[in-house]
Amino acid sequence: MSSSSVLGRGSTALVTGASRGIGTMIARAVAGEGGHVVLTGRSATELRAVTSELAAAGADVCSLPADLTQPGAAGNLVETVERQCGGIDLLVNNAGGDPLREFHTMTIDENLRTLQLNLVAPVALSHAVLGGMLQRGRGHIVNISAMAGRVSFPYTEVYAAAKDGVIGFTRVLRADYRPRGVSASVLILGAIRDAGQGQRMLDEAGMRASRFMAPAESVGRAVVNVVRKDRAEIVVMPGPGRLLRAVMDYFPGLGPAVNRAAGATVTMQKIIELRDAEAGASA
Ligand SMILES: NC(=O)c1ccc[n+]([C@@H]2O[C@H](COP(=O)([O-])OP(=O)(O)OC[C@H]3O[C@@H](n4cnc5c(N)ncnc54)[C@H](OP(=O)(O)O)[C@@H]3O)[C@@H](O)[C@H]2O)c1
Repeated sequence: MSSSSVLGRGSTALVTGASRGIGTMIARAVAGEGGHVVLTGRSATELRAVTSELAAAGADVCSLPADLTQPGAAGNLVETVERQCGGIDLLVNNAGGDPLREFHTMTIDENLRTLQLNLVAPVALSHAVLGGMLQRGRGHIVNISAMAGRVSFPYTEVYAAAKDGVIGFTRVLRADYRPRGVSASVLILGAIRDAGQGQRMLDEAGMRASRFMAPAESVGRAVVNVVRKDRAEIVVMPGPGRLLRAVMDYFPGLGPAVNRAAGATVTMQKIIELRDAEAGASA
């Protein structure tokens, strides 16, 4: 299989979490390759706005709202896309995020929703698209993970578990199905600026992006590159991201020091204080 055949004219891509944040950049980059792109997320209004903006720039794009934490949502979404647009050649599992609250202050159901969105939904969507991809003998699944677990990013216990889970899932998926024409790649993101949860967190705390944050636009480019070159894993962050990941595996105790040096600890403490104040005000 030529990896590029899952991009460009005649192909169909499904991008999750495309109503805002980094997903809009991924949608723009994938649509820029010329194929049909289906955007999904929960917010129909925001999806329509992104769809109109991309269509005005010449993209072949449409949207289908879905809440991926609902039972059966992944299967229903894929079935609808396949019925309306034909087979899905590229799936980008980007929807995700973290409530940014302390683990013990959230109920277990709130914690499990984070697992559902960041791990269960990508697994369910991959499962739903795989049958058609195997039948056609081509397809690529790109999963969006995070450095959170590797660097012990503060207050992300369940999110980190999910994002590390996505890395293991992608490795095995790639090994099992690549010989049959369906590949899989994972993008491991460090903190991202200009759009998405990290930037919103900075705005909320009145703080500026650090030099350790990569621009959101670079994630869109990275998705296209990882598919074109059929790479297994790439780290998106300024500097030697893969090396930092490897070092963190050898010396996991370094995580808190790295977070302090990068300013993450102070930022997250400020965010938690803001969250607690909001919760106190609304109680
Ligand atoms: N921003 C960063 O610094 C950073 C760093 C590392 C990794 N990442 C990863 O990058 C990805 C994108 O993050 P982001 O920063 O762009 O987040 P974001 O701005 O919060 O966007 C999250 C997207 O996911 C969708 N989503 C949330 N809950 C959903 C649900 N239940 N069902 C369906 N869609 C849902 C949202 O759409 P609706 O609200 O419309 O549903 C939105 O489009 C995530 O996987 C995140 O973990 C981000």
